[in-house]
Amino acid sequence: MRHSVRVEDWVEDRADDRVAHDWGQGDWDGLKEQAVDVMRRAYAPYSHYKVGAAARADDGRVVVGCNVENAAYGVVLCAECGLVSQLHATGGGRLTHFVCVNGEGEVIMPCGRCRQLLFEHGGRDLLVWTVSGVKPMSEVLPDAFGPDDLAHVADAAAEGTQ
Ligand code: THU
Repeated sequence: MRHSVRVEDWVEDRADDRVAHDWGQGDWDGLKEQAVDVMRRAYAPYSHYKVGAAARADDGRVVVGCNVENAAYGVVLCAECGLVSQLHATGGGRLTHFVCVNGEGEVIMPCGRCRQLLFEHGGRDLLVWTVSGVKPMSEVLPDAFGPDDLAHVADAAAEGTQ
């Protein structure tokens, strides 16, 4: 296993994985396996609650993250933070499918803050494997605040209505 790769190589390697087929249960299971794998790398010495997250991006590549805690407890980085960072560090794009798991490998819900994080990078249509099945973000974080809210006010200001 390579422990150090150039980002350009990483993106190129995964270009081969880009697929255009219907997303089925097998794909979800594969994504969950990657979440379980990365969960094992979590740094959670304080809560002992490990989390792994995996998502598919719209070009077919998979990005992952695990939680990283801190002696200053409030500084904790949820697994989703690492995942979103990897999304951008490896070429950007939008998230299309997401799942996160606990230390038992069970599907868990992303916390409230992380739902907001995911919404920013996947929008209403991001599919999330939840504890009650696969749902779009529009159901996981209904009526979400997002980039459109900022654009709305910025547009109004530009038109001189504010
Ligand atoms: N945690 C995540 O990584 N993601 C979530 O969506 C839920 C919570 C982590 C943060 C902390 O390290 C541990 O789980 C216990 O809250």
